[in-house]
Amino acid sequence: MSDQYLEIRDLHVAPIAAPDTEILQGIDLVIGKGEVHAIMGPNGSGKTTLAYALMGHPAYRITKGEVTWKDRNILALSADKRARLGMFLAFQNPIAVPGLSVASFLRTALNAKRQGIDSNPDIDPTDPTRGGIGMGEFRKLMRAKMAILKMDEAFAMRYVNEGFSGGEKKRLEMLQMAVLEPEMAVLDETDSGLDIDALRIVAEGVNAMLNPNLGVLLITHYQRLLNYIKPDQVHVLARGRIIKSGGKDLALRLEEEGYAPVLLEAGYDADETDAPELAEPAAAH
Ligand SMILES: Nc1ncnc2c1ncn2[C@@H]1O[C@H](COP(=O)(O)OP(=O)(O)OP(=O)(O)O)[C@@H](O)[C@H]1O
Ligand SMILES: [Mg+2]
Repeated sequence: MSDQYLEIRDLHVAPIAAPDTEILQGIDLVIGKGEVHAIMGPNGSGKTTLAYALMGHPAYRITKGEVTWKDRNILALSADKRARLGMFLAFQNPIAVPGLSVASFLRTALNAKRQGIDSNPDIDPTDPTRGGIGMGEFRKLMRAKMAILKMDEAFAMRYVNEGFSGGEKKRLEMLQMAVLEPEMAVLDETDSGLDIDALRIVAEGVNAMLNPNLGVLLITHYQRLLNYIKPDQVHVLARGRIIKSGGKDLALRLEEEGYAPVLLEAGYDADETDAPELAEPAAAH
């Protein structure tokens, strides 16, 4: 298969904290170059686990399966190498990093990405004459991207996510994406916590970033986001698997009927919860 496909084959994932509990039990998904795939699914079905597993979060173990991107087995790579290869994750719950300004964080991340996965020695990220981005050029770029997301420039000097409102955190995730220009973006509930105007601004921002080289995996609970960002396919993740795939109609159907009919059609008991039962901590006994 051509290089710019994200290919997920029979992916099984367990949290390190509960290695016997497979949250994902065989995910198969291919995201082609430039395609937008939406993933919907009940709370606790494993959407964030999938996002983390794709990006290499150390709290998760891949128990089976393969993920390839740009002809590489990315499961063997650290998270930063995946990012240097053009992958990006917008967190559902971004964390605060007191002491680190937004501008400094973004510039460091962009410079690291420019150096590439093999840390090209000809590129010195701290030297604008050797491929690094200079302060002036970076400020111009950041301002332009902030304008697209209608973010106040004062955010550049604030600490990453510290004291940010829920909606501001989501916008910062999108600002990171805009600056880093990934080729495969996983957006984990980027719409949650946004008011109606902010949702439109963020969605327009994502639309402005869409291009034939950008694949998107869009995790959402609400079909209204898909009114703005048109998905090529919609998938339902439940019981550790993708139990149904379709077009935008599927999202509309889920909104009207909930997950029960789709679960029943796939042969599952709709009354059971998706969250796996984890062993109780020893201290509880
Ligand atoms: N590190 C972990 N340790 C233990 N359990 C975990 C861990 N990570 C995830 N889980 C469990 O795995 C299940 C799936 O969690 P996940 O966050 O992937 O769900 P989700 O589909 O993103 O849900 P939501 O829609 O609420 O965001 C949950 O039951 C969760 O408690
Ligand atoms: Mg989640």
